[in-house]
Amino acid sequence: MYGVGEHMILVTGATGKVGRNVVEELREAGVAVRALAREPAAAEFDARAGVDVEVMRGDLTDPRSLVPALRGVDAVFLLWPFLTTKAAPPVLEVIGEHTRRIVYLSSQGVRDDGAVQADPINAFHAEMERLIERSGLERTVLRPTGFASNALGWAEQIRERDVVRQPFGDLARPLIHERDIAAVAARALAQPGHRGRTYVLTGPRSLTTREQTDAIAEAIGRPLAFEEMPMEEARASMLAQGLPAEVADGMLAAHAEMMRSPEPVNRKVEELTGAPARTFREWAADHADEFR
Ligand SMILES: NC(=O)c1ccc[n+]([C@@H]2O[C@H](COP(=O)([O-])OP(=O)(O)OC[C@H]3O[C@@H](n4cnc5c(N)ncnc54)[C@H](OP(=O)(O)O)[C@@H]3O)[C@@H](O)[C@H]2O)c1
Repeated sequence: MYGVGEHMILVTGATGKVGRNVVEELREAGVAVRALAREPAAAEFDARAGVDVEVMRGDLTDPRSLVPALRGVDAVFLLWPFLTTKAAPPVLEVIGEHTRRIVYLSSQGVRDDGAVQADPINAFHAEMERLIERSGLERTVLRPTGFASNALGWAEQIRERDVVRQPFGDLARPLIHERDIAAVAARALAQPGHRGRTYVLTGPRSLTTREQTDAIAEAIGRPLAFEEMPMEEARASMLAQGLPAEVADGMLAAHAEMMRSPEPVNRKVEELTGAPARTFREWAADHADEFR
């Protein structure tokens, strides 16, 4: 337990994969938490032990809509669900009018050497980090590696055809469990000592896409095949899902670069939370029902 009764935290992205777990981590620690949602009536949180969650309406594309949720808040968990920073300056301004502290969910691919980021997703996170720095808010930046939960995108092919058809079958990444990102975020929000820090967060070891497939097969108790998807097909499928061409190309290029230069694995999660980072196998077991 930490920070009991001392804080009120606003969590954006609270209905999503990471934010929902940030809300739960804070509740379990006894920290008062407010969850932002565009449709509060549709946002459900477990009615389990821990402090209540106050769900409030707000839209990050409409900065003034955030004001009621920001009143009396000590810190904000900011998740940026867009692909550009266009709407960010007025949002940071309104946050700065109500609180001094922000924990931003960035990305491991952000580079500190000022180099132009080829991947548009890392480029917008790099720009968000710069805007937050310039805002003068006390900040903590979390840079997680790829989310284990990206594998939820395979659920339909697994449920329907017992197959994972993806590019980069041999790419090994130290994917991170959303609960570990949330566990770090909750501490950065409610405990002292994290001001001005940037934390790169990874899972405990790297697993190839084929090995991730095997871990899900083990979790659901059914064999799964892995099929290498040709690059052109992967690109077409990303475009069909609505990704802009430059984002699809940037993501594919970033993955190819990771094949050449694998992401390092670190123990930051354990250092900050006291518990080892969860493995991809644990993640697959936690989400087995979504693949069955
Ligand atoms: N996937 C990865 O491998 C990876 C790696 C590093 C960093 N990231 C970053 O992680 C973030 C995504 O996290 P996630 O997977 O937890 O998100 P998610 O599950 O996709 O959820 C998105 C959240 O954003 C909220 N949202 C969407 N539009 C909004 C708006 N206009 N105003 C207010 N809230 C809005 C949604 O809330 P409502 O719809 O309920 O309002 C929802 O809670 C992104 O910034 C991404 O770049 C991802």
